[in-house]
Amino acid sequence: MNAEPFAYFLNTTQRRIEEHESTIRRLSSMRGQYHDAAAFDAQLAVDDAVLYEVYMVERPAEDGELSSGLTILHPGKVGDEYFMTKGHFHAILETGEVYYCLSGRGCMVMETPEGEWHVAQMTPGAVVYVPPRWAHRSVNTSDADDLVFFWVFPANAGHDYGSIERQGFRKRVVSRDGVVTVEDNPRWLPPDER
Ligand code: PA5
Ligand code: NI
Repeated sequence: MNAEPFAYFLNTTQRRIEEHESTIRRLSSMRGQYHDAAAFDAQLAVDDAVLYEVYMVERPAEDGELSSGLTILHPGKVGDEYFMTKGHFHAILETGEVYYCLSGRGCMVMETPEGEWHVAQMTPGAVVYVPPRWAHRSVNTSDADDLVFFWVFPANAGHDYGSIERQGFRKRVVSRDGVVTVEDNPRWLPPDER
């Protein structure tokens, strides 16, 4: 049966999608993802801060359907590492995604199962194309502003968080003397050494 066309309203001032609820991701759900475990524990003891909020306009997981939505990633750091999303491969690896940055400043860290990596800048107006097979994580490199972006992906793509939870991405984004710097993640192992 044909789906009905519809519209929804993305409120860029209030940073939300009208008539939809957001889900939130807190610091506590990122245990093991930040390199500085002591800084993570100290920060969590003070406040289980909301790192980001996701509005998802979810469609049935069927061929041809597209899910889309909005992510608001707040500014902050754990130790020297900027706040970031959990990051994932798509469960159907051969599915891509498009991101459109609405406001803020940051980047998207990507990698393939073979260990190729790429970091794309996210500034207002930037459209980042995540090809099939590339895991993706967004990072807010501003000290003060939210990083806000719209995205769309095949509704049956699914999220595979497991591989990233095990060892993180190959690259991490940190502040070195106030300069945004992309560094090797010491926990990361190439595929043949895992
Ligand atoms: O599908 C996507 O890539 C986005 O909608 C992300 O899910 C969103 O930005 C939150 O990131 P994550 O799912 O890695 O927690
Ligand atoms: Ni995705």
